[in-house]
Amino acid sequence: MTRPANWLSRKHDGLPLAILTAWDALSGALVAEAGADAVLVGDSLAMVVLGHATTLPVTLEEMLHHCRAVGRGVAAVMADPSTQPLLICDLPFLSYQCSSGEALAAAGQVLKTTPATAVKLEGAEPETLEVVDRLVRSGIPVMGHLGLTPQSVHQLGYRRQANDPITQERVCRQAQALQEAGCFALVLEHVPAVLAQRLQHELRIPLIGIGAGDHCDGQVRVTADLLGLTTRQPPFSPPLLNLRSQGLEALKQWVAEQHEHGPTSSASPATPHC
Ligand code: KIV
Repeated sequence: MTRPANWLSRKHDGLPLAILTAWDALSGALVAEAGADAVLVGDSLAMVVLGHATTLPVTLEEMLHHCRAVGRGVAAVMADPSTQPLLICDLPFLSYQCSSGEALAAAGQVLKTTPATAVKLEGAEPETLEVVDRLVRSGIPVMGHLGLTPQSVHQLGYRRQANDPITQERVCRQAQALQEAGCFALVLEHVPAVLAQRLQHELRIPLIGIGAGDHCDGQVRVTADLLGLTTRQPPFSPPLLNLRSQGLEALKQWVAEQHEHGPTSSASPATPHC
């Protein structure tokens, strides 16, 4: 398994990281077999899999449930834990914002009851930095997340963030603060590429981009977006193929064939019941 501690040397050696999300055993097996360095059970599963309009409603219990399923899928294709990708679980909205004690309890549940060995959380407000510090001092690896932070959608929207020099300075200060608090890596979502390029140089920890340009130490993608499975494709994450429309065509054809040749069709002879 790629341990978070090894990620610093990956950055130092200029070896880019590729991270994919997963939400169940099927997707976990797929991204592990694809060779992802880490599998993120992102709270985007609230939208991608559970059909919510935002990531806010997903609960810690639901994240734990999906994380265990992903772990089973990874283990099914990679029995040797030393070869498995790092499994990271998002801490959902309000599981870590209320107090660092509650955050520790939530992250502890992730590590105690799922195969995940790291958590991710969003933002860098003073309370969040306290949480990161508490988790890290308790032995829990933490990945940060800045830029477009979907748990703040009602303040920020799903728009590109940090478009002006003042907010870019703020993101740089926040990124440094997360690094000092002990984050082992930082996700930077939907920001101008120049900001990512600057942070990639300034930070010791790997900068993992999504919609942040190419000058990052690694990239993360929502697997459903890459496969073209979603009906809500983010503009900064184009699909590699259109699995939804291909799958839909195949399924429509199967349904049509059943309607044409099935036992209840008036076109086919009546089949006696067995
Ligand atoms: O929840 C998620 O899938 C994420 C990625 C977009 C980084 O946080």
